[in-house]
Amino acid sequence: MARVKMAAGNWKMNNGVKAAVEFVSQVIPAVKDSNNEVVLGVPFVCIPDVAKLCAGTNVKVAAQNMYFKDSGAYTGEVSGPMLAELGVSYVIIGHSERREYFAETDETVNLKAKAVFAHGMTPIICCGETLEQRELGIKDEWIRMQVKLALKDLTDEQVSSLVIAYEPIWAIGTGKTATSEQAQEICHLIRECVAELYNREVADAVRVLYGGSVKASNCQELFGMADIDGGLVGGASLKLDEWQAISNC
Ligand code: PGA
Repeated sequence: MARVKMAAGNWKMNNGVKAAVEFVSQVIPAVKDSNNEVVLGVPFVCIPDVAKLCAGTNVKVAAQNMYFKDSGAYTGEVSGPMLAELGVSYVIIGHSERREYFAETDETVNLKAKAVFAHGMTPIICCGETLEQRELGIKDEWIRMQVKLALKDLTDEQVSSLVIAYEPIWAIGTGKTATSEQAQEICHLIRECVAELYNREVADAVRVLYGGSVKASNCQELFGMADIDGGLVGGASLKLDEWQAISNC
């Protein structure tokens, strides 16, 4: 079965409720005929309003993080049951910014991925190398390690349904997009790693996105590569014309 491409926006820490409602109200009619799965990763505080607006449309809501415990004394955290109750479909897990600034580790990524599934949502698991790792020639080992640890003890069914986003750190927010060949090479490597860990059927089902300076002008070429099933998009998901073009890419 052909994999449905995904255009996933990651707003990061941008847009309060008012701006989010205005933006999403314009996005919904602009992407209604898209053949891609359109997802918007919005700040926690925007989720209730955005989820209400998106109900019954083809736009799905993602959270940008989630804690792996269901409840308890974890000041400042947000749990799976809280997000599921609001109608969240996807949760972005292990973004490089969370790994760098908020001490996310491969172990917590794995715990969070399991917790996302436990509450009926789907993780979008991020991985990617630094420029230094690429230059040292260890990017392949690094990505394979991140993928193996993230997927530890997940079932065939779970891995078939989840999304992995390859985001080279040197390409995030820098305007320096990986070439479509560079992106394809690693997305292929990720798929082969899943085939090794699980089987061909699972590897053919899992969706692998590319992220890092995706924009309207390069999405077609990137999303057209054999192992790239769409994009995780930061900056360009905040601009209506750009996001419309990428969603409909
Ligand atoms: P960018 O961010 O598109 O602004 O490079 C991508 C991401 O961090 O998900």
